Amino acid sequence: MKQQLEEIKLHALAALDAADSPAALEELRVKLLGKKGELTAVLKQMGKLSPEERPVMGQIANAVRAEIEAKLEECKASIGAKVLEAKLAAEAIDVTIPGEEVEMGHQHPMNMVLQEVKDIFVGMGYTVVDGPEVEYAANNFTRLNIEEGHPSRDRSDTFYFTDDDSILLRTQTSSMQIRFMENNQPPLCMLAPGRVFRKDEADATHSPMFHQIEGLVVAEDITMGNLKDVLITIMQRIYGHDAQVRFRPHHFPFTEPSCEMDMQCHKCHGTGEVDGKVCSTCHGEGWIELLGAGMVHPVVLENCGIDSTKYSGFAFGMGLERMAMGRLRINDLRLIFDNDMRFLNQF
Ligand code: DAH
Repeated sequence: MKQQLEEIKLHALAALDAADSPAALEELRVKLLGKKGELTAVLKQMGKLSPEERPVMGQIANAVRAEIEAKLEECKASIGAKVLEAKLAAEAIDVTIPGEEVEMGHQHPMNMVLQEVKDIFVGMGYTVVDGPEVEYAANNFTRLNIEEGHPSRDRSDTFYFTDDDSILLRTQTSSMQIRFMENNQPPLCMLAPGRVFRKDEADATHSPMFHQIEGLVVAEDITMGNLKDVLITIMQRIYGHDAQVRFRPHHFPFTEPSCEMDMQCHKCHGTGEVDGKVCSTCHGEGWIELLGAGMVHPVVLENCGIDSTKYSGFAFGMGLERMAMGRLRINDLRLIFDNDMRFLNQF
């Protein structure tokens, strides 16, 4: 029996040394020490021994068991360490490897300029508002004193939704003058940027969809002088103090008197020529039309329930793309809408 125990021990220690995973160790534990294990099988035979032999064998058996248990613990520890080491090696992160480059986008150049313009007007106390692009003809035309039959109402110029021409894609942000005056009493200062739509063929300076920024001020004693002051201030803030602008008399049904304001062409600097050829940006004019403006027509004030004998106001509507072209020195309007990354990445 002593021999048997000795064999079990030698065999067990060798097997434990060879085990290479926690699972293999557990399998050995059951095989060696479990209820149906080899050691238990030997101990079950103890009853057959004489009373003198029993304690001696018992002692040897306990010693063997203790030795196997100690070896088992030792192997568990070393295999655990090896497993951990392998796991750490597999999960190692090299923090010195350069990261994958993430391309950050930025605002569209036109939005950059819009933000700049809005900031300046907000600084002057204007309220910035938003309105619908699908608009009633009443707000887009009629209440702005644009009568039936006016050329701008023509189906060849305007996108209508209904057969009776009562609903359309707004052709100007001036519709926001009506919406704002309907809901606010003077004194009021409003700025309304947004998209407008016209049946225009796209070329270097035209697009069927473009952006306008509408401005409206109504209070007591507002004059054309106030209008010029605001517009010149804005131009100087955006284009610098030497920005050259000019006002020309014009006609709009919703303002009286009316004017247009031009900015000196940023490409030919007002000469109308580039390298001996007609400047393509201003078509040789030397000036680029930026906005229409004027004193709000008394009829428009009355259409919105504002007393035109007490209040006066000015309004203006500027083309945002034209502003951006000048501000960022862009020579072709279509570049603004193409979304070519080679163009956008320059800003
Ligand atoms: N709505 C006009 C246009 O699209 C521009 C304009 C002219 C707006 C005069 C105004 C204004 O507010 O007073 O051509």
